Amino acid sequence: MPRRTCLAIVLAAGEGTRMRSRLPKVLHQLGGSSLLVHVMKAASAAGTNDLAVVVGPGEEAVTAEARKYAPKAQIFEQRERCGTAHAVLSARKAITRGAEDILVIFGDTPLVQAETLSKLRAALAQGAAVAVLGFEPVRPQGYGRLVMHGRDLVAIREERDATPEERKITLCNGGLMALAGKHALAILTRIGNANAKGEYYLTDAVAIARDMGLMAVAIETSEDDVRGINTKVQLAEAEALLQQRLRTAALEAGVTMIAPETVFLSADTKLGKDVIIEPNVVFGPGVTVEDGATIKSFSYMEGARIGKDARVGPFARLRPGADLGKNVRIGNFVEVKQAKIEAGAKANHLTYIGDAHVGEGVNVGAGTITCNYDGAGKHRTEIGKGVFIGSNSALVAPVKIGAGAYIGAGTIVTKNVPAGALAIARAKQTVKEGWAKRLRQVKALGKNLSGKKPKKSS
Ligand code: UD1
Ligand code: MG
Repeated sequence: MPRRTCLAIVLAAGEGTRMRSRLPKVLHQLGGSSLLVHVMKAASAAGTNDLAVVVGPGEEAVTAEARKYAPKAQIFEQRERCGTAHAVLSARKAITRGAEDILVIFGDTPLVQAETLSKLRAALAQGAAVAVLGFEPVRPQGYGRLVMHGRDLVAIREERDATPEERKITLCNGGLMALAGKHALAILTRIGNANAKGEYYLTDAVAIARDMGLMAVAIETSEDDVRGINTKVQLAEAEALLQQRLRTAALEAGVTMIAPETVFLSADTKLGKDVIIEPNVVFGPGVTVEDGATIKSFSYMEGARIGKDARVGPFARLRPGADLGKNVRIGNFVEVKQAKIEAGAKANHLTYIGDAHVGEGVNVGAGTITCNYDGAGKHRTEIGKGVFIGSNSALVAPVKIGAGAYIGAGTIVTKNVPAGALAIARAKQTVKEGWAKRLRQVKALGKNLSGKKPKKSS
């Protein structure tokens, strides 16, 4: 069967005042991505080939976020907030392009899964003109109710407009909807605003489709799938649910987590097979961990790649651009940023590596710092293959250390070091034989080293 074309319209216009934030609601983060990106991803995964996003007036930041994820997404402005059907019609131009399936998704319903959207599409493929998601919430108050005649969906009644009898219905409207493209405009343009709120309700599409002799169906889903976010409390609850989903998926894919409930993942975290994650680890956005690597406790990573069999932590911090090769060791209190670290290199203790290239098998001693910033600009450090850097060295960038060179402990490297050389730059040590012994003797006599009694302090 040829694939059906699909347009997803994401409604992202919103006041979001109950979030008590200056940030537009759909830009709040869940698992390291915005609510908006979560729904756009779900739409793409459900086979959508055309995306439209409806934003409120002046919501440039929302537009920018949508474009960042899907540069081809069409953005429509809903000038006035006149209801969900009105919002959908703001994207009329996209609708007239004639997709077979149209999915309407709310930007504040980030946990909706691609499979759920696919089920709505499947209902259209089977002849429905309108398909909605029904669910049985713990508290139905506030939701639209699905009015059923047997297995037929007859109408959706918003709570404000419902009769006391209808309010007793526990099957509620999840909000998201699928519309057959060929009937969508005919249905949508018939929706009026004669209701308690004076808004154009998308939910009226059901009764209108029935009047037109078309089929409307409800598909049941779990509350988690259609959980809407209006407050920070709901945002935190959704985060907990998402983390649960991500951890389960990782465990099922072969990752070992000793205390999964203490590991925080991002929606885009990629974990290979036989990866071991110890308790209390945080994955910010953009982290890939290859097969067999171990991440020890209290490590924090973002925008990093961790190569096969590498070991990171405990207490390591990998910042964007950290790229660790096979078998690399990054130990406690080590920070890596914008640096490629080749296979087998080690930085085990108390080190900062930034804007650098570290060659294969390099040993970076404890307390080594790449001094990459001179107060005005960032500079690079190049460390060749097999270099040994003694502890407490400062590498003042820009600087290059040739393959196989040695850097003596405590050296401040300000000039390039040729391959195979030793660079050492520190004050010469002096040794005064017997000095300490004499000190103790004179102290015992109540004198100091010059042979005089110390003055009494008043
Ligand atoms: C909606 C449904 C209700 C359902 C509930 C599920 C309608 C009329 N009602 O109610 O049946 O039970 O969701 O959560 O659809 N939006 C716009 N422009 C507007 C109005 C809304 O873009 O003019 C967007 C909002 O940003 C939001 C979504 O549409 O993402 C839903 O709007 P909201 O006001 O939250 O609808 P509910 O009252 O929750
Ligand atoms: Mg809502």
